[in-house]
Amino acid sequence: MSSVLGKILSKLFLKKILKPNKKPFCSAVIAAAGSGERMGGTDKIFVPLCGEPVILWTIRAFENCDAVREIVLVVRSEKIPDAAKLCKDAGIKKVSVVVSGGKTRAESVLRGINEVSEKADLVAIHDGARPLVTGEVITTAIEKARTCGAAVPMVPLSDTVKKHKDGYVTHTPDRGEFCCVQTPQVFDYDMIRGVLTSAAENGWELTDDASAVEKSGIAVALTRGSHRNIKITTPEDLLFAEAVLSGRMGI
Ligand code: C5P
Repeated sequence: MSSVLGKILSKLFLKKILKPNKKPFCSAVIAAAGSGERMGGTDKIFVPLCGEPVILWTIRAFENCDAVREIVLVVRSEKIPDAAKLCKDAGIKKVSVVVSGGKTRAESVLRGINEVSEKADLVAIHDGARPLVTGEVITTAIEKARTCGAAVPMVPLSDTVKKHKDGYVTHTPDRGEFCCVQTPQVFDYDMIRGVLTSAAENGWELTDDASAVEKSGIAVALTRGSHRNIKITTPEDLLFAEAVLSGRMGI
């Protein structure tokens, strides 16, 4: 998709989104179909965190967020029965469907997007492995996407960044020009479905959903994320998450 076409599409989406007084119907797609290689092969999504699986903390954050109307959960095919039971036992109401993921994260996300309600105006795409996300981070991104079509939470960098080659530093860029982005990344439904379908057809390699949108020439706004909204990747991350959740529960 050319950047000119992207800009035209972006304007069309804006026209659609900027309907005053209409509360957008926002569906969440939670991508939880990873293999957990960096957790030593353990599926990090089902690892217990303060007594409950990581994924249940993630789902609850969206269940309790008024700006989200439904949740589509994407897990590995063999985990569908466990995930559905987990939601049922925990009294989760917003999960409309549990679907199987694909080989890559982008494939899993697209499978989820293809299952969201026909009523969806916006889609909030979230990593299942980010259980510490707050209602505030979710709502802020949704509100921004409502007015501009694409919004992504960010935090500033605290470490210095280096470019490197063969074990030596080649360049130290200005840290102020960079930020780290998180999820949920929120987009106009029609736009993200079109862009991710095109990305899949063209074999784009993506580490997040916003990069497909940027590549299509559509502007992506940044919103305030949180240093606590980490993606559980290593066993050490679980210790951090336990400490944050224990603090929230006043333990
Ligand atoms: O692998 P990575 O840490 O980037 O995964 C981010 C999120 O995407 C995780 O919640 C993981 O479960 C999910 N994922 C997925 N399908 C894949 C790979 C990752 O849903 N094939």
